Amino acid sequence: MNKKELVNKAIEARKLSYSPYSHFAVGAVVLTKKGEIFVGANIENSAYPLCMCAERNALYNAYMHGCKKEDLVALALAADTDGPCSPCGACRQVISELFPKDAPIYMGNLKGEIQETNILELLPFAFSEDDLK
Ligand code: THU
Repeated sequence: MNKKELVNKAIEARKLSYSPYSHFAVGAVVLTKKGEIFVGANIENSAYPLCMCAERNALYNAYMHGCKKEDLVALALAADTDGPCSPCGACRQVISELFPKDAPIYMGNLKGEIQETNILELLPFAFSEDDLK
């Protein structure tokens, strides 16, 4: 599956968003080695801090289906942003633990713009399990 197809899946996943407060729908997908796609969308709550982002929901969805870090090969996200939609800081921290360091992350938007990056670029000097030793 190429990056455009993956970002289109993320755009499709936006339909699952529950975002009555921000009215900002985000979709994300995680692709596995086997070609499986796990989707996520942002799910909000009237108690605002409980809102969960699309990227984390997609990753947790993959893990809830038995995937591990080494099974994951790409992540894409998309929202109605001017430029390619960038993952928030909390998602970067979670991606850095649950997703391979060098695997592509495709940031997209509804205009069809796509920027490829990876978590080392998005979160250099990340806090990790190594820091707990
Ligand atoms: N949001 C995401 O789903 N992913 C991000 O990386 C940025 C923000 C969601 C959280 C909230 O529901 C809405 O977008 C506005 O911040």
